[in-house]
Amino acid sequence: MSAGAPVTHRVATPQPGAAEALGELWIAVTEAGGAVDFVPGADPGEIRALAAATIDDVRAGAAHMIVAGEQTAPLGTVLLVPGRGLVAHRADVQRLMVRPDHQGTGLGTALLAAAVELGREIGAELLTLGARGGTPLPAFYAARGFAEYGRLPGGVRLAPGDDRDIHLFARPLDRSGR
Ligand SMILES: CC(C)(COP(=O)(O)OP(=O)(O)OC[C@H]1O[C@@H](n2cnc3c(N)ncnc32)[C@H](O)[C@@H]1OP(=O)(O)O)[C@@H](O)C(=O)NCCC(=O)NCCS
Repeated sequence: MSAGAPVTHRVATPQPGAAEALGELWIAVTEAGGAVDFVPGADPGEIRALAAATIDDVRAGAAHMIVAGEQTAPLGTVLLVPGRGLVAHRADVQRLMVRPDHQGTGLGTALLAAAVELGREIGAELLTLGARGGTPLPAFYAARGFAEYGRLPGGVRLAPGDDRDIHLFARPLDRSGR
């Protein structure tokens, strides 16, 4: 990618095919061992259904979506879910994923930075996220401005007898742009 090129953009309105495209990205990421709600061998229909529900949330304004590439052929994506009521000052970063053949090229870092920027734009004062233990993900977020504030022991069950902690991260956003 060329230096300075905008590689990510916010999805204002999901286009026809966006849900299917997200589903195929999510399935590929899962089969490559990615830690986004599923494990390899998961029912593709279940992933496609969750992708469709995710796009419905974006269409309804309940979640904001950023993609790298085209929304109908995404190289990667990330969701930002704003809180409501007493947690309306927070937003949760979810489902950061990059196509397996593009991982390690900076797209995940760019998507996360775009989510942080979008968080500022929507007025969020605190970003949160959870990362699966036993993976490189906690170190990935810790190196990118997020601070681990706790762990949920055994918060995700990959298989019977293989529970993993969820590492809980937060990042305050201030008005000075840091
Ligand atoms: C985690 C992920 C989004 C990072 O995006 P990326 O474009 O591969 O990462 P970048 O090139 O921007 O940065 C590379 C960093 O990611 C880390 N990383 C984590 N998983 C990786 C993977 N599968 N391949 C390459 N790098 C990975 C590297 O250790 C490296 O860390 P460092 O620079 O701090 O040493 C991406 O690898 C991915 O989609 N993984 C599978 C899905 C997933 O687990 N998502 C997390 C949900 S919480």
